[in-house]
Amino acid sequence: MNKQQHAAFIAAAERALWTPKDHFQRAELSEIFERTAPLEIDLGCGDGAFLLAMAKRYPERNFLGTERLLGRIEKVSRAIGRAGFENARILRLESLYASQWLLPIGCAEVVHIGFPDPWPKRHHHERRLFQDEFMVALYQLVTPGGEVRIKTDDLPYFQWIEKVLARAKGFERIEWPEEPDYPRTDFEQHFLAQGLPIHRARLRKI
Ligand SMILES: C[S@@+](CC[C@H](N)C(=O)[O-])C[C@H]1O[C@@H](n2cnc3c(N)ncnc32)[C@H](O)[C@@H]1O
Repeated sequence: MNKQQHAAFIAAAERALWTPKDHFQRAELSEIFERTAPLEIDLGCGDGAFLLAMAKRYPERNFLGTERLLGRIEKVSRAIGRAGFENARILRLESLYASQWLLPIGCAEVVHIGFPDPWPKRHHHERRLFQDEFMVALYQLVTPGGEVRIKTDDLPYFQWIEKVLARAKGFERIEWPEEPDYPRTDFEQHFLAQGLPIHRARLRKI
């Protein structure tokens, strides 16, 4: 890579990172992507394998990943820059806060939540992302008819999630047939390679 190419790569990686103008005010969609297109959000996107694979597969859609760990944010923004994708960006922010207070109301056609941290100890359950309050935030985030897709390997957490989903207003559970060539998250590939079951839930906003 020569100097010019390196500078272009750094600029593309910096563009991939979305830093809101104001963290205390709801953002406009046009602040995230210049282009108007259906938006999918990957909350807690980790190393971004799923985000990037989706952005490559569906160039006509926009993809926003959120993540709280700086190292992962840097990795994903570099990967987006390297791939030259204009339809993927990443935001460093906590998922509940982003859904509840920052992201535009009704902006997402699909919200993906892959392998959220299970917080297995009982006295840590209050840290789990899936709580009644989070479902209200998701309802607000998703466009009418839009979807929430959840995957986890952790059965006790999945049972917890199912109880939260059963209480949530405004969503219906829908079938989620296996699509063998649908992009997989890093954690999904890891657990599938070990032959472990993946628990899945797909919701539609009524
Ligand atoms: C188990 S990993 C799964 C990563 C990716 N979704 C996947 O399926 O490969 C969970 C990711 O969510 C991030 N995370 C956990 N809680 C979060 C929160 N409240 N807000 C933002 N990111 C969070 C973690 O830093 C981690 O990268």
